[in-house]
Amino acid sequence: MFSARVPNDLRPNSLTRLLAARRAAGLEVLDLTESNPTRAGLNYPSEEILASLSNPASLSYDPQPAGLLLAREAVAEYYAARAIPISPADLLLTASTSEGYALLFKLLCDPGDEILTPRPSYPLFEHLAALEGVRVAQYPLRYDGAWRIDFEALSSAVTPRTRAIALVNPNNPTGSFLKHDELAALDRLCATHSLALLSDEVFSDYAFSPDAHRAETAAGARESLTFVLSGLSKVAGLPQMKLGWIAVQGPSNLRQPAFDRLEWIADAYLSASAPVQCAAPDLLRLGREIRASIARRAARNAGAARQLFSGGSPFRVLNCEGGWYSVIEAPRIRTEEDWTLELLHHGTLVQPGYFFDFDREAYLVVSGLAKEEIFDEGLARLARLA
Ligand SMILES: Cc1ncc(COP(=O)(O)O)c(C=O)c1O
Repeated sequence: MFSARVPNDLRPNSLTRLLAARRAAGLEVLDLTESNPTRAGLNYPSEEILASLSNPASLSYDPQPAGLLLAREAVAEYYAARAIPISPADLLLTASTSEGYALLFKLLCDPGDEILTPRPSYPLFEHLAALEGVRVAQYPLRYDGAWRIDFEALSSAVTPRTRAIALVNPNNPTGSFLKHDELAALDRLCATHSLALLSDEVFSDYAFSPDAHRAETAAGARESLTFVLSGLSKVAGLPQMKLGWIAVQGPSNLRQPAFDRLEWIADAYLSASAPVQCAAPDLLRLGREIRASIARRAARNAGAARQLFSGGSPFRVLNCEGGWYSVIEAPRIRTEEDWTLELLHHGTLVQPGYFFDFDREAYLVVSGLAKEEIFDEGLARLARLA
């Protein structure tokens, strides 16, 4: 009766079941998986956010498949402030980055085609691709004190059905940024095999410190057709506003036909609402402060985790350059599943590495968005379990 794009078994996993049981019993849960900034106890400029949504321009409907020009100009200004020149004419607005992926898979793939995604990385790739009838094949990131793309494995993963290589920069959950030499190699590989490069840069504002080797964006002069994805979710800490975008980059002979087709697809949905598009200039301006407070929290918590698990600790925090998460390597006295369940019995929720497809055990992923006192207490409970 139902499409194979949707999983047959929708039952919650053991961690979700235990969490629901604890919450139903009224027991405490220190949530170190919180990735919703609006629930992280941050100070938002509430009145100004609400005022931005009362623009009279949003009373009329002017359907533009690529999005309203004033909103695209505001996004271009956000990039210009980071010294990244992107023309509003190359920007297409979406309701979210997830929708951006869906549009790009429709643009690039026929059913059964493949995209290559990093491993470990963002778990939603699998579902977003499946929903478009697209298969995911993974290429490994290797850790030796820093994360690097395994280019040998990546090149050999390319098949005649491969249509695109996706990357997350900085990656979720490893917090590792792409380096200039890696971007150049990716660009060349894509151009050689006529693949598109999909660069998810939702966390690119969240670097802990500068690094000249880092390629903060794939926007700019590229040999390959390149799509940069981002949105208000992370850029302004406002996921509820539902505004994302795709910047189409690359050689002009590919860029324009790609943009025209994306616009044609977007015309079937017209998903970004007028109120949020009209508010985009204000929300991006207000987003600077919100972003700064999230960045302070994330950097502070990453530092606290490193400090707690340094020296003789049996836990190790993997090197992390930015983003919202920290990865903790736990001693292999328990499986990841057992670590997370045991810790939840002690009132602390973390994510197991296998959610992100780490290639071995035992890794635990914690969100730096959690309030400082919750974060510290949660990690102290973890430390006591070793
Ligand atoms: C790597 C990555 N991309 C995209 C998103 C989602 O962004 P959006 O809310 O714009 O769909 C997330 C959310 O956590 C993410 O981690």
